[in-house]
Amino acid sequence: MIEEQQKSKRLFGRRKGRPLRAGRALLMDTLLPRVRIMISSISPSPCGRVENASRFRGGVVGVSTQQSLSERMPPPPRKNCVLSTLPQGEGDLSPALAPRNDEGLNPFALFDFVPEAVRLEIGFGGGEHLAAQAAANPSVGFMGCEPFINGVAKLLTQVEAQDLKNVRVYPDDARVLLDALPDSCLAMCFVLYADPWPKNRHAERRFIGRENLDRLARVLTSGGQLRLATDVAGLAQWMREQANAHPSFVCLYDGPNAPADWVPTRYEQKGIAAGRTPTYLVYKRR
Ligand SMILES: C[S@@+](CC[C@H](N)C(=O)[O-])C[C@H]1O[C@@H](n2cnc3c(N)ncnc32)[C@H](O)[C@@H]1O
Repeated sequence: MIEEQQKSKRLFGRRKGRPLRAGRALLMDTLLPRVRIMISSISPSPCGRVENASRFRGGVVGVSTQQSLSERMPPPPRKNCVLSTLPQGEGDLSPALAPRNDEGLNPFALFDFVPEAVRLEIGFGGGEHLAAQAAANPSVGFMGCEPFINGVAKLLTQVEAQDLKNVRVYPDDARVLLDALPDSCLAMCFVLYADPWPKNRHAERRFIGRENLDRLARVLTSGGQLRLATDVAGLAQWMREQANAHPSFVCLYDGPNAPADWVPTRYEQKGIAAGRTPTYLVYKRR
């Protein structure tokens, strides 16, 4: 099922760059299996819209919180392997509403503690923003999604160096992860500089568009935040048109000032050094 889903979703962009340095390759073997988000046969939450993320906290039906993460994981991947096809991957405490292990992914059950909220960064690149967010908010769970293996390895070095307990990684296409999540489970989603596709003829490659905004609207809680950034004026215009036209989102901010808790990535800093001006867009899920 997952393979079928992935075949139908073409991913534009690189999965691999230069060979990983030995230390990073080792982390891919040792740390990634411990923090990797696994998705089993997927359909999103069987329940209808869930109003509040608190419904997901406090317990899991179908996934034992006693079972350690590593017990649920398959053997670690081989060094430098391509992570394109993944093996398998609530707290309303009502068993009827709670997604079961084989029916969906409970983001609150991914951590060794029950997070007060869960946030997702899509296309985290080198992971600087994600790691800084996680370090500043230790009671919040963070999921990061990135198919570029070198970026994943870079994030892992930060997770290890800062001993971050609240980061989980899906090393693949965010659309597969989004479709596996239950409704209304995320407090915040970040999509930062995800779309290097300024040409109009490549518009269908862009992550921000109606289809993915629908996905994001489904998984965000009411009042949840979607943060977008780009330093290409045409893309900023595209993103604001797409998001402003979406019935589930209300614009809270659109301009050149980063949110107060923002940590620039190397990519963003390089753009600023090259004279580009970032645009930050912040939306609230109705
Ligand atoms: C230009 S880089 C920016 C990285 C990072 N957000 C930053 O600001 O430094 C865009 C990233 O988005 C990732 N990306 C693109 N499409 C994606 C998708 N469908 N799912 C997850 N990540 C994606 C790419 O792999 C790439 O690393």
